[in-house]
Amino acid sequence: MSHDSPPQKTARHVAVVMDGNGRWASARGLERLKGHARGVDRVREIVKVAPNYGIEYLTIFAFSTENWKRSAREVLGLMALFRRFIRKESDTMMRDDVRVRFVGDRVRLDKKLSALMEGLEERTRHNRTLNLTVALNYGGRDEITRAVRRMAKAVKSGMLEPDSITEDTLNDYLDTADLPDPDLIIRTSGEHRTSNFLTWQAAYAEYVFTQTAWPDFYEAELVEALEQYRNRDRRFGASEAV
Ligand code: FPP
Repeated sequence: MSHDSPPQKTARHVAVVMDGNGRWASARGLERLKGHARGVDRVREIVKVAPNYGIEYLTIFAFSTENWKRSAREVLGLMALFRRFIRKESDTMMRDDVRVRFVGDRVRLDKKLSALMEGLEERTRHNRTLNLTVALNYGGRDEITRAVRRMAKAVKSGMLEPDSITEDTLNDYLDTADLPDPDLIIRTSGEHRTSNFLTWQAAYAEYVFTQTAWPDFYEAELVEALEQYRNRDRRFGASEAV
């Protein structure tokens, strides 16, 4: 699929850096995992309402390649949340016609979790209303590095001609090969960083940064972010809004 999304006022592909769970919990005297658990509730809600706003693709940053540096307790707690989410939400995804995909390097994930991920991808593969992509053990640079490694192998084996390589070729080797580029990337909780999220794909994305911590990101916050997006001129490098 081409990485250029057609210009339009509705954000067809929205991606979210769900930041601020830890701070949300600490501010309430709760342990960080409680913030992540509340974050799962917001994931459920946003997945449910996204199609009502014309969103066809929703991509969420659940765990980065850098998140392994957190305490063992938090990492294990997050992994348990992911397993529970997949088990509990599988029927809902079928009912709501949501296709779920995972991007990121699965090699380091435990076997039980990666088996659950594969099972959910397989079960939901014919669903069409919303494409939910969960970035898990994901890093943009890591994704590009893995793509280049596979391209180099393809060149070595004679399957790929170096002079034929275009942007589309590289795009096809990324974890996100089947997805259009994000139109809008939302980051919650006040940080103004991209944090290695969709590094290649975000080239022309609009960013919306909000102060709200992810556990407080209700439907109204999404509406507000979409409104900001609608008011932006997207030029894709051209001199006038396209
Ligand atoms: C960032 O907040 C959030 C994460 C690293 C985890 C995001 C995961 C969830 C919201 C769980 C739900 C996901 C799925 C797919 C079920 P932070 O911990 O960095 O917050 P802080 O910056 O306040 O410390």
